[in-house]
Amino acid sequence: MPNTVLIIGASRGLGLGLVEQFSRDGWQVIATVRDPQRAEELKAVEDIRIETLDIDDAASVDALAQRLSGITLDVLYINAGISGSRTLSADTATDEDVRRLFVTNAIAPVRLAQRMRALVDPRMGVITFMSSIMGSVETGPGMGMPLYGASKAALNHLTRTFVAELGEDTGLTVLSMHPGWVKTDMGGAEAPLDIETSCRGMVEQVKRAAGQRGHRFIDYQGEALPW
Ligand SMILES: NC(=O)c1ccc[n+]([C@@H]2O[C@H](COP(=O)([O-])OP(=O)(O)OC[C@H]3O[C@@H](n4cnc5c(N)ncnc54)[C@H](OP(=O)(O)O)[C@@H]3O)[C@@H](O)[C@H]2O)c1
Repeated sequence: MPNTVLIIGASRGLGLGLVEQFSRDGWQVIATVRDPQRAEELKAVEDIRIETLDIDDAASVDALAQRLSGITLDVLYINAGISGSRTLSADTATDEDVRRLFVTNAIAPVRLAQRMRALVDPRMGVITFMSSIMGSVETGPGMGMPLYGASKAALNHLTRTFVAELGEDTGLTVLSMHPGWVKTDMGGAEAPLDIETSCRGMVEQVKRAAGQRGHRFIDYQGEALPW
């Protein structure tokens, strides 16, 4: 039986790169997009299952959990995220900017993990949240994109709460992953890393993590990052 991964937010960028890498490695891939009409590159990947999901919409998450009931996931990879405008800070953001960034980047991923947790193999499963070095309280400030960084710091905090609530007996491993600075719509053309290099590294780290248990904040090369 091949391993199964569910990748949330796979229409483009790193999510699409993760689909391609897991697929190349022989995994069964379930990939979600907000709008299947705008997922031509994803549809070109053979033998994958595509599902529709907006991570912000709790009813959409519930409906997906129901459609997937009976499936055991080896990996749940929550990749979806937004950056907002690069200059957004506490000073410049509207209340709506703040709401969108924090709901999509911090609240919705953890809600989804809570809802989907029952599908993940409790002995060896891995849940990965796409974080960012900008979410490190120690090293993020000064790197730019302060409000985006704050939303990823909030994600890291809520992820640690999620892990604490899993208790001691679980075999699950949780990763907060920094993909590196990668050329995507969000990362921009000046980023040093290409999608394939980042995704090859991340998939390697996720496979290694199975069975290790606990929670780590690491990058695509497995380097531990400061919280
Ligand atoms: N690129 C980097 O250098 C970098 C560095 C650190 C962390 N990250 C993180 O890595 C992740 C992927 O980034 P990326 O660079 O690949 O960005 P991207 O090219 O902008 O892609 C973002 C993905 O998230 C999806 N998404 C956004 N909001 C969503 C929602 N409400 N529901 C479901 N899907 C949603 C998008 O779907 P649509 O096509 O429907 O918009 C798209 O598939 C993000 O969490 C980002 O914060 C990226």
